[in-house]
Amino acid sequence: MESDSQGKKAMSSDTAEFAPTGIPGMDEMLEGKGIPRGYNVILAGGPGSGKTIFSIQFLSNGITMFDEPGVYVSVDESPIFIRDNMAKLGFDLERLEERGEFAILDVSPIRYMKGKMVGEKVSTAFRVGKKDFSLLDFRRELSSIMEGIDARRVVIDPITILMLQHADEAERRYAMIDLMQALAITGSTSLIISELRGTALEREHQFEEYLAQGVILQRTQVMRGELIKTIQVEKMRGLDHDNQPRPYRITSSGIEVYPSERVL
Ligand SMILES: Nc1ncnc2c1ncn2[C@@H]1O[C@H](COP(=O)(O)OP(=O)(O)OP(=O)(O)O)[C@@H](O)[C@H]1O
Ligand SMILES: [Mg+2]
Repeated sequence: MESDSQGKKAMSSDTAEFAPTGIPGMDEMLEGKGIPRGYNVILAGGPGSGKTIFSIQFLSNGITMFDEPGVYVSVDESPIFIRDNMAKLGFDLERLEERGEFAILDVSPIRYMKGKMVGEKVSTAFRVGKKDFSLLDFRRELSSIMEGIDARRVVIDPITILMLQHADEAERRYAMIDLMQALAITGSTSLIISELRGTALEREHQFEEYLAQGVILQRTQVMRGELIKTIQVEKMRGLDHDNQPRPYRITSSGIEVYPSERVL
């Protein structure tokens, strides 16, 4: 473990049942422990709310603070872009990749199909040239890359497009259950990134939120005439978590949560 302080190592051994996020302020909302190990957690937020930054912090901290290798599944951004953007926030992903502790699974064919999906049958949306992309292929590739680095954490960012290949809602639910079961079998702690539709407290819940063991929401709210970003642990089974929305900022070194500040 490349930990630079005894505190970090102590945190690792004390929290064997948990996967701490290591994000400043975030684990305090989770009984001071983090995400229960092996859970599938949905992280939902609006565009630009910091979902990718949260994800990379979770994975990078997993490696540098808790000795847990991780895989990032990039669904709609190029890995080059991810590496460059995250380097600006101080996350040297290339170094972690070289050390065999971090890997990006680029599901880029989907990216090129985005424009074509409009007005086309969803079932044909993932055809790139002669190459079909199926959830089954995806799961196989994911397992192989996870085994390759003995991954303990995984992020799928975002899940939305992957699920769109199933036109029928019942099929989408089964596909999501399959995926979550596949992730559960690996024993890794996973973050599944999702879009948050509607910013109001009373919003329509998406079915994956019921299936997941945990749900974390990133919202933009108005407080005293100003827009502020808030994060809320909506659900984390078996944990007496903070259920209030708390403010967070995206700083030059990533997300910082302020768990004792009130916004409501
Ligand atoms: N160096 C920085 N300092 C402060 N804020 C930053 C910095 N870099 C990025 N940001 C903020 O982070 C936001 C992007 O974060 P991120 O890519 O994690 O969002 P996202 O929720 O994944 O977005 P999308 O839905 O488009 O995938 C930017 O809109 C900007 O507000
Ligand atoms: Mg993103």
